[in-house]
This record gives sequence, C-alpha cells and structure tokens, in this order.
Amino acid sequence: MSGKGKVVLAYSGGLDTSVAIKWIQERYALDVITLTVDLGTHEDLEKIRRRALDVGAAKALVVDASDVFVDYFIWPALRAGALYEGVYPLATALGRPLIAKLLVDTARQEGAHVVAHGCTGKGNDQVRFDVGIKTLAPDMQIIAPAREWGMTRQEEMDYAARHGIKVDVTKKSPYSTDENIWGRSIECGALEDPWAEPPADAFAWTVDAAEAPDEPEYVEIEFQKGVPVALDGGQMSGVVLIQELNRTAGRHGVGRIDHIENRVVGIKSRELYEAPAAVTLHTAHSALEGVTMTRPASRFKEVVSSHYADLVYDGLWFSKFHQDLAAYVLSSQQVVSGSVKMKLFKGQATKAGLRSEFSLYRKALATYDKGDQFDHGAALGFIALHGLPVRVQAQVLKTALPEETVRPQLSPPEIKPE
Ligand code: ARG
Repeated sequence: MSGKGKVVLAYSGGLDTSVAIKWIQERYALDVITLTVDLGTHEDLEKIRRRALDVGAAKALVVDASDVFVDYFIWPALRAGALYEGVYPLATALGRPLIAKLLVDTARQEGAHVVAHGCTGKGNDQVRFDVGIKTLAPDMQIIAPAREWGMTRQEEMDYAARHGIKVDVTKKSPYSTDENIWGRSIECGALEDPWAEPPADAFAWTVDAAEAPDEPEYVEIEFQKGVPVALDGGQMSGVVLIQELNRTAGRHGVGRIDHIENRVVGIKSRELYEAPAAVTLHTAHSALEGVTMTRPASRFKEVVSSHYADLVYDGLWFSKFHQDLAAYVLSSQQVVSGSVKMKLFKGQATKAGLRSEFSLYRKALATYDKGDQFDHGAALGFIALHGLPVRVQAQVLKTALPEETVRPQLSPPEIKPE
C-alpha cells in the first residue's frame, strides 16, 4: 500500500463498484480497500476478491456476515412483523445498516477516514448508508462515486473498457437487482412501465404460479418467542432454515411481490421482489400472533409493525426509536411460541393449521356443539352496557340535529364544484 490516504469501499463485484475502484483512485488519489459482505447468498467470495485486486484495489477483504444478519437484523424484523407498506419484507433495507457498520469497523481497523459505496443519488440505499455511517461515525467521510460521476450505463462501460476492467457485461441483466438471504429486489428496465406485467426473466428464485407443482407441499415451522427454530421437526440454524425455505417455497412460486412503492426520496417506483422464505415466515408468524395475542395487543402490534417497517425502510436502524420499538416487540413475543403448518401451493403460502402452549383459543368457548361453556346469559348484560353510549348518543342527536343528518345516508355526499 502506498503512503496515500485510504478509503474502504463496499464492493459487490459488479460494474458500478468495479468502475468505482478506478474512479476513486483517479479522482481522489486514495488507496482503495474493498470490503465484500456476504449476507447469506454465498457468492463466490474468492472470485470477487480477486476481481477487486485485478481492477487495482490495494487490499480486498471479504466477510461472511450471514449469521449476524439473520440473528440481529432479520429475526428482529420478523418478530416486529416489518413489511413496508404491508408487503415488502425489507431484504435490501435490512442489509444496508449491517454493511454500514462493517464499513465503519473496517475503516477504523485499517486507519481509513473515508468510506465509499456504489449507490446512485436517486434511491433509498444511499440514504441508509449515509445515515448509518454518519450515525456510527460522525467523523467519517463518504464518497459515493455513482452519485458524483454523472456517467450513463454506457459511459460506465466505456470507462471500464478504457481501463481494462473486465466485468461480464454479456451476462448483464436488463434490471438493477440486489439480493441477500431475505430476498431479491428487482428494478428498472421493462418494469418502469407500471402497466406492463413483470416479464418472466425478472425472476430468479421463484417459478410462475402456473408452472408450480399441481400438488401442494406442507411445511411445519416451529417458533420460539417469535423466532423460527425448526423446520419439519428438524432444528437448524436460522441461515439454513431460511435458505431451505427459499428453495421449497420458491419451487411453489411463493413470494413474488409487485409493488409501486413510496421511496424515502419522495418518488414512487415500481419494485419487484422475490422473498419466498420471508413471505412464508411472516404469514406463519402473524398467524401465531393471532392465536396467542389478545385483541388490543394485536391491534397495537399492527401500529408497531408499520412504524418499525418505516424506520427500517427510511434508514433509521441506529435510532433510539428503533430500540424503543424493539424493546416492546421483544416483550410482546414471549407468548409467540408454537408450530404453524403452512401449505405451499401455486404461488400462495397459507396457514393450514397451528398449535401453541400459549394459544388463547378455547374450543369449549368457541364451539356451537355440545360442551359449550360460553355464558349466553351474560351476553345480554354485556350488550346492554356495551351499547349504552351509542344509544344515549342516538337519543341526544335525534333532538339536537335535523332529521336528515341522523338518517343513514344511502349515497355519499355530493361534492359540488365551486
Ligand atoms: N426498493 C428497495 C429498497 O429500497 C430495493 C432497492 C434495491 N436496490 C437495487 N439496486 N435494485 O429497499
């Protein structure tokens, strides 16, 4: 390594970050140390490492962060029921704060005062990286080449050719994708037309529901305090469990999501996701909560879930508000243990059955058959008191308001133009 300053670059091995190695050297005259983080998709890390060195990195580091990602990012998000706008399990969004943390840690170890990432100036990921990095290390400087260089994709390829950077552009997909163990995100290309149905070549982890097996497949997922611990009776690590479920559910076409999403930076964008394990696990987890939580707890959890999803999406992982919500979530999950039988069939993961030692379901109370223990007489008194406020109000309003405002409206009020 030369005597120049150093920068730690988050390196995926793709075109953008490969060009970034050279561009940073030219523009900023810094030694580039690349950091490649595996979040459970088990890419060929050695190949990526060698490519970084070939392009001219002074040092190339790789780290397998799969277990940390699952235990400290994915499971907390699953327990929280974090689905952005009700559908997106946040794979990309959850990965960013962990990569930000590893960038900062590596910079400290290597004596670098600058870190870099390959995000453009239009997306959410730059927000997540920058906010995460600056929260953890306010003194750290950030270079985002793709936000600064203003090159088109073609210009980037020309730049790569001029500098002898060999990136396999023949395999280049027409989409911008990002993937980790929790899911695959797909953007751009034909997807930018919201009228166009997603083309088949956008998908890599899931089959079309129409081509899925004609027989359903069942999987039994055991949860302990909101965390999946076993699949079909076999205990396994979180990483293995998610990988296995990605394959099984993906085979049945489960986990395709087509979403017009509100980005942090204010635009709406068309996003496709493939998240077979995430969708199956969220569905199972929420079914288990449904049977183990009381009604107000369930209602409140919905509010918590949506705030939790927003803060992850918005790049506010390292915030006090997150810690506060996580504390509530953790406490709420003490009863979320048990097993859920999921049916995977033609693109759907549905609950086929469940059981839990904390189940609040009582057949003796619910049954319409013999053995009913529900106190029917008590229902009359309950109804009298439950309906009391609304009966009083109706009496009051009848005299206080003109007849037509009391009468139920049969059609919505007309909005007259000015
Ligand atoms: N819209 C998603 C998010 O903000 C996915 C971003 C994926 N990034 C990509 N390069 N395709 O979390």
